[in-house]
Amino acid sequence: MKYVIGVDLGTSAVKILLVNQNGEVCNEVSKSYPLIIEKSGYSEQNPEEWVEKTTAGLAELIEQFDGDVNDIEGISFSGQMHGLVLVDENNQVLRNAILWNDTRTTKQCEEIYEVVGQQQLLEITKNPALEGFTLPKILWVKENEPEIFERSSVFMLPKDYLRYRLTGQIHMEYSDAAGTLLLNVAKREWSPEILSHFELAPEFCPELVESHDLVGTVTAEFAAETGLSEATKVFAGGADNACGAIGSGILSEGKTLCSIGTSGVVLSYEDRSDLDFEGKVHYFNHGEENTFYTMGVTLAAGYSLSWFKDTFAKEEAFDQFLAGVDEVPAGSNGLLFTPYVVGERTPHADSNIRASFIGVDASHERKHFARAVLEGITFSLHESIELFRNSGKKIDTIISIGGGAKNETWLQMQADIFNARIEKLTSEQGPGMGAAMLAAYGCGWFTSLKDCADAFLQTAKTYEPIPENVETYQKVFAIYQQVYTQTKTLNDQLKEFRK
Ligand code: XUL
Repeated sequence: MKYVIGVDLGTSAVKILLVNQNGEVCNEVSKSYPLIIEKSGYSEQNPEEWVEKTTAGLAELIEQFDGDVNDIEGISFSGQMHGLVLVDENNQVLRNAILWNDTRTTKQCEEIYEVVGQQQLLEITKNPALEGFTLPKILWVKENEPEIFERSSVFMLPKDYLRYRLTGQIHMEYSDAAGTLLLNVAKREWSPEILSHFELAPEFCPELVESHDLVGTVTAEFAAETGLSEATKVFAGGADNACGAIGSGILSEGKTLCSIGTSGVVLSYEDRSDLDFEGKVHYFNHGEENTFYTMGVTLAAGYSLSWFKDTFAKEEAFDQFLAGVDEVPAGSNGLLFTPYVVGERTPHADSNIRASFIGVDASHERKHFARAVLEGITFSLHESIELFRNSGKKIDTIISIGGGAKNETWLQMQADIFNARIEKLTSEQGPGMGAAMLAAYGCGWFTSLKDCADAFLQTAKTYEPIPENVETYQKVFAIYQQVYTQTKTLNDQLKEFRK
């Protein structure tokens, strides 16, 4: 039996999967790391920590593997998107990585619009300037830490840096490059216009490759540290959302994914690069050659829930914390939550908005709050679904992965709020599985990613909308949609008190 490894370099942890030729997950290791939040709006991580935790995780996985390591043919990656890693001419990291959920760059986003123009930016990158994307972070360092910027010779994204440490080779692939605001998404090349607007040298951008491209083998040093064979083939990998889509079989027109991790996304496959969503949803290259996906993002999905649990019940496990939410009726007895704990992306690109509980009543218990948090996260994702539906897309079946697929009540809630059939997969590994599939395809086990998905993925259970709950949620959603506008000015005023 042959094997591949999928490494999912996430925001809270690295998850490593060992997958065999039948698509079975034979072992799984996870190592977590913290966010460095120096002040409100900042979010960083130390790239060395990604390398250390991945090395330790791989060593553990190989230690527990009782087969021949030479049968582990390939390894590939899924990575948290947009994070900026800057290295000097000796490829030494110059500062902590600034992550996708860091929103310090509002000023730089405005500057991008002024210099490039909103229309030209949309034509080239197919996306608006959002604080989370990479170019604003590059401009922030240039402006605020010029001595660091001057020493930087190339920029990388999180999983590209990790892969560099495995192979000694620097590359970037299209699905992650699409989230930098430096890529011409349709032409699949670094945009000379945007580079020259900001006086960035072409050499500052790594060479572009396909997600399934072989980019090297494991260095002798890394092989010695982990127990991997030096012959292990390393494939480029993809952005976590692209890999989540691959790992859920979102590989043909009409397929929709709801993925709830730290962020939450609603993602739809596109085989064309020339549709116009006016920048209302993200439009990125897929991890499958020459295809694309559109996506709405809830900035704090799983993060709103983990923030709530960690703040009020740190010692409890999630299952214990969520016990009782199924006893609370749809609509949480009039308690409404908006999940804006770190700002929002879709449909309100606003780094300043903050979360609210509306309608707190003396009869509410903790379980009402917990259910309201789940509902609020799901309402936010529903706003993306509504955007897609309003643009003419038919969304009647959604594959759900991530934290949202781990809880029966939440799965049914998604069916009821989205008013769509929800499918849960047997092995719901999302991005890590997508990374493993890129390695499997790269190794030549399959002639296409679709063939690999057909062999590896099966539906375990479906959840149909319950008409009575659909009706309740339609009414509550209409109220939810008013909270953003009604709390915007209040949050603008509160900003000066955030530290
Ligand atoms: C997508 C985004 C997040 C991260 C999470 O644009 O910022 O979904 O990819 O890792």
